[in-house]
Amino acid sequence: MSLHVSPASAADAPRSVAIEDAAYGPNPSGAAMFPGPFPPGDQVRVNALRTQLADDPACRWAKVVDSGLEAAGEDGMVAFSMWYFWSTPRDTLPPRPAWGPGTNPDACELFFGAMREEWLRRWAGKPHVYLKQLHTDPAHQRRGAGSMLLKWGVAEADRLGLPTYLEATEEGRPLYEKHGFRPVGKLVTDLSEWNGPAEAETVLMVRPPSES
Ligand SMILES: CC(C)(COP(=O)(O)OP(=O)(O)OC[C@H]1O[C@@H](n2cnc3c(N)ncnc32)[C@H](O)[C@@H]1OP(=O)(O)O)[C@@H](O)C(=O)NCCC(=O)NCCS
Repeated sequence: MSLHVSPASAADAPRSVAIEDAAYGPNPSGAAMFPGPFPPGDQVRVNALRTQLADDPACRWAKVVDSGLEAAGEDGMVAFSMWYFWSTPRDTLPPRPAWGPGTNPDACELFFGAMREEWLRRWAGKPHVYLKQLHTDPAHQRRGAGSMLLKWGVAEADRLGLPTYLEATEEGRPLYEKHGFRPVGKLVTDLSEWNGPAEAETVLMVRPPSES
């Protein structure tokens, strides 16, 4: 079963949301912010992703497809990534998506609001690439799909001569380090009010563009 990277489109949003739910399921912070239940198909989340793609031409999606699954008539997408290639800088982030059914808006605002403030402080007005999402279906993790998507995005960042910024989960951090990202800061959020961790950590990471 071979894997390959290809562009993803609005039609891939439902599968991305399904992968996202499965991939973040075991995350203790996720349980506080996204306790569920989610309606089948989670149209609010699907529409939010589609709006982000449609509203900014710098937003691009890439996916990893397993050709064996495709040949068997299944949806072959096993991993998804969302990137913003901001050669022309922005002063603000795109509006945040609505928190839909199954989410905990207060916890989400606390956690993601801190990330938005940090982005504003560090990147407003500066050209850069922002890796907004990366997740692999747990049934297909550790096969190299996450690495393939990172390589795809940083190759594009190098072509544009831009640094790349991301907010890493603990699970993602070692992979990002392998691909040249270095920690530049940390956010610690108290989610204990919602039975989450008292110190939920997000590592802020940057990869400079390659010289060659
Ligand atoms: C983080 C995440 C995206 C990684 O995706 P992935 O597809 O498993 O990534 P890879 O397979 O490229 O690499 C993962 C590990 O598998 C190893 N690996 C890669 N190919 C492999 C193979 N063929 N056989 C065995 N191991 C392999 C990698 O070396 C890496 O090792 P490490 O964990 O020791 O660093 C995935 O775990 C995920 O979706 N997690 C939940 C969501 C999340 O936290 N996303 C990050 C947001 S910042």
